Amino acid sequence: MTLLTATGITKKFGQQTAVDQIDLQVAAGQLIAFLGPNGAGKSTTINMLTGTIPPTTGQIKVGDLTPQDRQYQHQLGVVFQKSVLDGQLTVWQNLNSRAQMSGQQDFKQDNPLIVAFGLSAILNQRYQTLSGGQRRRVDIARALIHHPAILFLDEPSTGLDIQTRTIIWQTLERLRQAHGLTIILTTHYLEEAEAADFVYVIDHGHIIAADTVSRLKSQYAQNQLMIETPHPKVVLEQAQPDWRVIEGQHSVQLAVDDEQAAIAFLHQIQSLVTHFEFRQGTMDDIFMALTGKEIR
Ligand SMILES: Nc1ncnc2c1ncn2[C@@H]1O[C@H](COP(=O)(O)OP(=O)(O)OP(=O)(O)O)[C@@H](O)[C@H]1O
Ligand SMILES: [Mg+2]
Repeated sequence: MTLLTATGITKKFGQQTAVDQIDLQVAAGQLIAFLGPNGAGKSTTINMLTGTIPPTTGQIKVGDLTPQDRQYQHQLGVVFQKSVLDGQLTVWQNLNSRAQMSGQQDFKQDNPLIVAFGLSAILNQRYQTLSGGQRRRVDIARALIHHPAILFLDEPSTGLDIQTRTIIWQTLERLRQAHGLTIILTTHYLEEAEAADFVYVIDHGHIIAADTVSRLKSQYAQNQLMIETPHPKVVLEQAQPDWRVIEGQHSVQLAVDDEQAAIAFLHQIQSLVTHFEFRQGTMDDIFMALTGKEIR
């Protein structure tokens, strides 16, 4: 079931077009990633979808609601790239005021979100004294207090260590399983995009690819076998004709199907190899193939 639809959304800031005619369809329960470099238009897109800024042109709907409808905001939880919480207030005060705003009189310190995001021990600490990872956990818990249908996360893991990222992702995954939460995130992190059901690759305000991770990988990010050799030409003579190859002065790079193909080929040319490396295709490769630029 389609939950969110955006049709031809465009945002201009003066002469500059930050987002240009983007179309999106997001089904309930999906995890969607917007992947793109700095300035691609990811935050601008999120800000339009969350009703924070109006699109210059285009339509947005969540179910039957548009961003102008009062009920629209109730459907969404938003974690902006820069936190909007009050630094002077404690974690508990920030969370509780949000709960009261959404009519939850019975919000307690043992609320499942407080427990799930590991906030019990820091409830009485002022938000501004928290570490980056603690802040993010509070931000996300706060965005979920009113049980939104869609959670927007603008670069949720930037600057976080692996442990904090893991806690956040395990908790969000449980919420997806339990409540069918839909998640739309922006990221530069490959591993986050790889968890997504569907990825929109954005560059200069345009969607330059929209597909599943597995299809993007097979199209743009094949496995690579790098071989150092004093005789690249001799090595290439033995390569399968349908492999994409890059010949260096003392090296050869081959796009091979899988590890088995790589091992078989290495056996075949063993005496010519001084060094080799096998590398799985990544989202970095996808970005490179589509834009000719590294992702970060
Ligand atoms: N309020 C604004 N006024 C003018 N220009 C803006 C405004 N907001 C964004 N822009 C411009 O729009 C473009 C897209 O910015 P946006 O913040 O959406 O990128 P992003 O993909 O989120 O980048 P990052 O990964 O750095 O967060 C940039 O060139 C930015 O300078
Ligand atoms: Mg941004």
